[in-house]
Amino acid sequence: MPTQIYDTIQDEIAALKQKRNAVILAHNYQVGEIQDIADFVGDSLRLAQQAQRTDADVILFSGVLFMAETTSISCPDKTVLVPDLEAGCSLAGMIRAEDVRKWRAEHPGGVVVAYVNTTAAVKAESDYCCTSTNAVSIVEQIPEEKEILFIPDFYLGTYVKRQTKRDNITLWNGYCHVHDMIKSDQIERLKHEHPDAEIIMHPECGCLTKSMDYADQILSTEGMVTYVRTSPAREFIVATETGILHRMRQQNPTKCFIPAADEATCHYMKQNTLEKIVLSLERMQYEIKIPDSIRKRALRPIERMLEMTAHARSQQNATS
Ligand code: 13P
Ligand code: SF4
Repeated sequence: MPTQIYDTIQDEIAALKQKRNAVILAHNYQVGEIQDIADFVGDSLRLAQQAQRTDADVILFSGVLFMAETTSISCPDKTVLVPDLEAGCSLAGMIRAEDVRKWRAEHPGGVVVAYVNTTAAVKAESDYCCTSTNAVSIVEQIPEEKEILFIPDFYLGTYVKRQTKRDNITLWNGYCHVHDMIKSDQIERLKHEHPDAEIIMHPECGCLTKSMDYADQILSTEGMVTYVRTSPAREFIVATETGILHRMRQQNPTKCFIPAADEATCHYMKQNTLEKIVLSLERMQYEIKIPDSIRKRALRPIERMLEMTAHARSQQNATS
């Protein structure tokens, strides 16, 4: 896109944001030009926390629908917009509310921990929410004797099981089709070519069970962005969706970032464009509103997650 047009759209978005008293939240997988105009860029947890703090009237969420739903659930007085209603998530589509009810009935006494990559209706059936940043900490705060039904990501659940050393965690068999494209033999080949590179991996990776032992770090998207800034390493093999490379390269121009799989691109995340953001703010489309009957029940696990995250952080600060 020629620079002049890009600048014009940027200016137009800035003017629309002012007119609507809007804030733009963008996930780390958004295309670079969206990340560059966003007020906040981050992972699911950081964006959920940011949404709660804003005093803007309108939150334009440039990510995928479950993230905008989470925002709408916890900020019912705000107008939450998404640029495109096709921005779904294959992982969130792997479990329905009726599946959770049935699974729960088969495991009386179990508590449901739902990864934030779930629909509002699924969250409404759950006890706790978690993101990739806080999944281990949330599970650690649940009484040891409680069976945990972890939904929907098998690989994140496997990682949590290993980190918490709990064997009473039962896993749903869902996965993300993008992270499933990342293969351990490809990571091994890249490591052979770049022996000094650190391997950083998202816990949704389909090769996690094979690669967990040799990955240098297993982190959320925001955890990865922070980690590469402080690590003394000069090269990184990055095992997640490729949109994250934009911020890494922008913030660390002298370091080298190698995608573990070039094809690991989330077409849901890439539905959003600058042009659709203009239309969204101009026409106030597409508003995400959750019916009250679901919203009230879905709020409970989200609030618990945010409280437990704040609690873990204050405990950490007290001991450091
Ligand atoms: P993060 O919360 O780590 O950004 O992950 C969200 C996601 O959808 C990963 O595929
Ligand atoms: Fe969903 Fe996977 Fe896309 Fe993340 S990368 S939004 S889990 S489909």
